[in-house]
Amino acid sequence: MEKSKIIEVKDLVFCYPDGTKAIEDISIDFYDGEFIAFIGTNGCGKTTFSKCLNGILKATSGTIKVNGIDVVHTKDCTELVKNIGYVFQNPDHQLFNNNIYDEIAYAPRNLRIPEDEVKQRVTEAAAIAGVTPEVFEEHPFFQVKGIRQRIAIASILSLRPKVIIVDEPTTGQDYKQSIEVMEFLKMLNEKHGHTIIIITHEMDIVAEYAKRVVVMTGGRVLSEGSVQEVFAQTELLEKANIKPPQVTRLAQRLESVGFDNNIISPEKMFEQWRQLAKQPVGK
Ligand SMILES: Nc1ncnc2c1ncn2[C@@H]1O[C@H](COP(=O)(O)OP(=O)(O)OP(=O)(O)O)[C@@H](O)[C@H]1O
Ligand SMILES: [Mg+2]
Repeated sequence: MEKSKIIEVKDLVFCYPDGTKAIEDISIDFYDGEFIAFIGTNGCGKTTFSKCLNGILKATSGTIKVNGIDVVHTKDCTELVKNIGYVFQNPDHQLFNNNIYDEIAYAPRNLRIPEDEVKQRVTEAAAIAGVTPEVFEEHPFFQVKGIRQRIAIASILSLRPKVIIVDEPTTGQDYKQSIEVMEFLKMLNEKHGHTIIIITHEMDIVAEYAKRVVVMTGGRVLSEGSVQEVFAQTELLEKANIKPPQVTRLAQRLESVGFDNNIISPEKMFEQWRQLAKQPVGK
């Protein structure tokens, strides 16, 4: 079944007030249920682009359609806010209420949703994000970073958005916390059907969790495609200063003895090694 288009971006340009042209010209579509990673070096425009998608930043020119509705040339941001949630890289830039309940309730209250439905949404969002009601009265800032991030995600989930953009979900987290947050996003994608967009510098995370990759450089999309397709483009990635995961680089070094150049997991590498080992020498 063909997936429905949820975001359509055409000829997008964004300039900051000081004249910095952070997005040069982007046209790309995103589909319902995708798990996407934006990658690229520092300053290439990943955060700016995703803030344009969420309406935090208003495009200088070009169009962004969400569910077919042009959200750039309208003053009413409701469609954007309801459909696309953006989780800041640092949850502390997002959390500002004095207790966790009010934090998660803030966005639906802002849309003037009746208080009994707000309560239902807070309970649901907190449960999905693993924030227990026992801490609802506590101050968000007194929680550890992993929990603050979950509160930030819950405060987005309470809008029940179709798309959730998470800016650098694993930066500054140890291995266990990184896996926890990524498994959580995977669950939101697979079980709850949210389209997930992550921005990351960690290629192992991309290989393990994303299905589609958007490579950015200088405010433009340099390449995009499935994880396998993108990681196989060695010259292009070099241009963008991106190193594919080690397992992919190893497979590429061994291409001459029969390995594929688009292997992204140790399991696949092992499977191919076993197949190659069964072949008679010289074949
Ligand atoms: N508030 C701002 N005012 C002016 N220029 C800005 C502002 N924020 C970002 N920029 C510039 O816009 C460009 C894109 O920045 P952006 O933060 O979107 O990049 P990024 O890909 O998210 O980088 P990183 O990986 O470091 O987070 C950079 O040149 C940056 O210096
Ligand atoms: Mg950024």
